Amino acid sequence: MTKLTWLSHGGWIVENDEHRILIDPFLTDNPTALISADQLQNVDHILISHGHFDHVADAAVIAKGHDATIVAIYEIAEWFTNTQHVQSVIGMNIGGQLELPFGSVKMTPALHSSQLPDGAYGGEPAGFLVTIDKTRIYFACDTALFSDMKLYADNVDVAVLPIGDLFTMGIEDSVTATKLINPKKVLPAHYGTWPPIAQDANHWADRIRSETDAEPIVLQVGESLEL
Ligand code: NI
Ligand code: MN
Repeated sequence: MTKLTWLSHGGWIVENDEHRILIDPFLTDNPTALISADQLQNVDHILISHGHFDHVADAAVIAKGHDATIVAIYEIAEWFTNTQHVQSVIGMNIGGQLELPFGSVKMTPALHSSQLPDGAYGGEPAGFLVTIDKTRIYFACDTALFSDMKLYADNVDVAVLPIGDLFTMGIEDSVTATKLINPKKVLPAHYGTWPPIAQDANHWADRIRSETDAEPIVLQVGESLEL
């Protein structure tokens, strides 16, 4: 069974019977996370979209504890190798696709910024198109709305879009993004973690239902969607 679990904020787990892939882990110091980094069940790959602390915070500790491979843009991959001493790291870049034991990962553009917690340059921010068990999942990650989303994620099975506003697109632009991409299902992310990015996800879902052809799925923190 393939499923997608929301860890809160931009953090997700995609898994099937053999693999568990973690995206943008932010558990320690996250007021909405239900588990700490040391309570996370074993993962084998960790995808990092960009360098901000709320996406990389727990990645090195988890990678070392689980013998997991970090996948990130080249600059961030180098940072994990050289400054965090993570053993297994794969660097890639935007537009590239990587074949992994569970399926494939394509790195997509994102309109955002990317500086690592120690001030190091994190390269360009990214999103991911993950294909697992023939299901295509687009993680837009931290980004503004941009029309090229359609080129990368047209008609995906599942789109995960930020709705928090302020640091990423908000509800209005995520509805527009959903119209562009036309996913079967769409899930909100990157909201509710702190007061400045509080959003009414039910209001968002009502708008998706009335203005697009996608099915909105609002998960609670820790809840899963079977794919
Ligand atoms: Ni960010
Ligand atoms: Mn963020």
